[in-house]
Amino acid sequence: MVKSKKQVRDIFCSKLVIYPGSFDPLTDGHINIIRRGLAIFDKVVVSVAHNISKRTLFSVRERVEMIKEVFKNESKVEVDTFEGLLINYCRQRGIRVILRGLRTVSDFEFEFQMALANKQMEPDIETFFMMTESSYSHISSTILREIIQLGGSGKGMVPASVEKRMRKKLGGVK
Ligand code: PNS
Repeated sequence: MVKSKKQVRDIFCSKLVIYPGSFDPLTDGHINIIRRGLAIFDKVVVSVAHNISKRTLFSVRERVEMIKEVFKNESKVEVDTFEGLLINYCRQRGIRVILRGLRTVSDFEFEFQMALANKQMEPDIETFFMMTESSYSHISSTILREIIQLGGSGKGMVPASVEKRMRKKLGGVK
């Protein structure tokens, strides 16, 4: 159903947005999306998914810690976790906008499916996409892990605090 201008305005005037993801770990690309999200919304809730189907490098607790560390001086960023369906979490929290970053064309297919599935389940929740800035479009957690494991530098890709934790966890070539 097409929404009226007022309905759309009401959704975006909620001023609260959720930025959900695995964040395994948080990258400079994620940080860029969060900071740009803050320029549009009053508050960004960064929520780490308990994703049982994914083998992760860091535990949910570690991922939350890393995000909190980076945004410790930013009162408009809240870090949380969620389990199960994202739309249920949004409903519980009264959040009506989901923020997602788009890096490449290959991201689009999955993001499109996810946005449509969420929309079908909960028509009142909108997904808001932001194109990743070009300097971050190549960054993925998988590539990063390989770089760190093989002794490369994560500068410009992950915060120093995250890189340190990755090195500790992955070891690898010095
Ligand atoms: O950082 P990611 O791995 O791309 O994040 C994907 C995430 C966690 C946002 C997505 O998998 C998700 O929303 N999971 C919760 C389960 C859910 O709601 N599934 C139905 C929509 S696809």
